Amino acid sequence: MGTGIGRVFCIGGAAVDRKYRALDAIRPGTSNPVLSERSFGGVARNVAENMARLGVTVSLASILGKDENGRALLDDLERLGIGTQFMALSDEHATAEYVAVLQPDGELALGLANMAIFDGFTPALLRNLDTHLQTGWVFADCNLPAETLHALVDIARQHSLTLAIDAVSTPKVARLPRDLTGVGLLFLNLDEARAYLGEPEMSLEEAAPRLRACGAQHVVLTLGEAGLVVADGTGVRQIGAIGAEIVDATGAGDALIAATLAALLKGHSLTEAARLGTAAAALTVESTASVRPDLSFALLETTLSLRAGPTFEREPS
Ligand SMILES: Nc1ncnc2c1ncn2[C@@H]1O[C@H](COP(=O)(O)OP(=O)(O)OP(=O)(O)O)[C@@H](O)[C@H]1O
Ligand SMILES: [Mg+2]
Repeated sequence: MGTGIGRVFCIGGAAVDRKYRALDAIRPGTSNPVLSERSFGGVARNVAENMARLGVTVSLASILGKDENGRALLDDLERLGIGTQFMALSDEHATAEYVAVLQPDGELALGLANMAIFDGFTPALLRNLDTHLQTGWVFADCNLPAETLHALVDIARQHSLTLAIDAVSTPKVARLPRDLTGVGLLFLNLDEARAYLGEPEMSLEEAAPRLRACGAQHVVLTLGEAGLVVADGTGVRQIGAIGAEIVDATGAGDALIAATLAALLKGHSLTEAARLGTAAAALTVESTASVRPDLSFALLETTLSLRAGPTFEREPS
């Protein structure tokens, strides 16, 4: 890990994920026996870990509480070889935490998210990153506050930075500026695209070019088990997902982003890169882990050659 195919600076969410799986059907208002496990999540953190495993040199800028969760997350980043020089500590908030309470069959009974700490990732923290934001590749997620995302897009417009952004969720995509000029690559699902465009019924054929018309240079619009659509100056292409046995869908979108970015750094075209992304996503839904510890380009290439379907041209642009 570490000395390979290029460098990406990741900025955004880092959280502790706790999963509690009930042994019997959950009864509210009383104590329920569970099996519990802790892992690390957050979109930017997951993308950073996946890319580090694919040989990209990665740094993560996020914000942690001064608590046991924050220390454990930081130790884990160091173990993974991810640069932690720009990790900030909050005086006010606890490390972000996501708690999932699952029924015995794995269905989500209750999810709890404490993400207040990210409001503290102000534009002032971006200034610390300084020369790292003048050239090269940056990935950011919409866990960042709107003013910080706006500042980052402004910086990308002024410098020769390739900025990739993930929408994260339908409420958080609204934090992006209306003018997406400066966004090199936008990753989002169809619901997030419709929310951003304010068009709840819009088809995917229309949505991707509309996002390009807003100024995003390349768009990767994901469609769950139906795969994704990529749009750039040469047109719109649909790429099918790789059929997968779902074990735990957590982290599919993050793996897709990481593998796509890593493949672009290696010199692949957007279409080829996104195809490798679908392989990473399929491998991730087939694993209980939200980031596969065995991820490698060799595994992605093999998965594609054995399991991929065709790519379709949607329309000339
Ligand atoms: N059931 C599945 N089988 C195979 N591949 C899948 C499945 N679900 C998702 N994927 C792959 O993962 C990619 C991203 O998934 P999706 O569109 O669900 O993203 P998302 O809604 O942003 O999810 P996330 O919560 O992971 O961010 C898809 O383009 C597809 O390639
Ligand atoms: Mg997503």
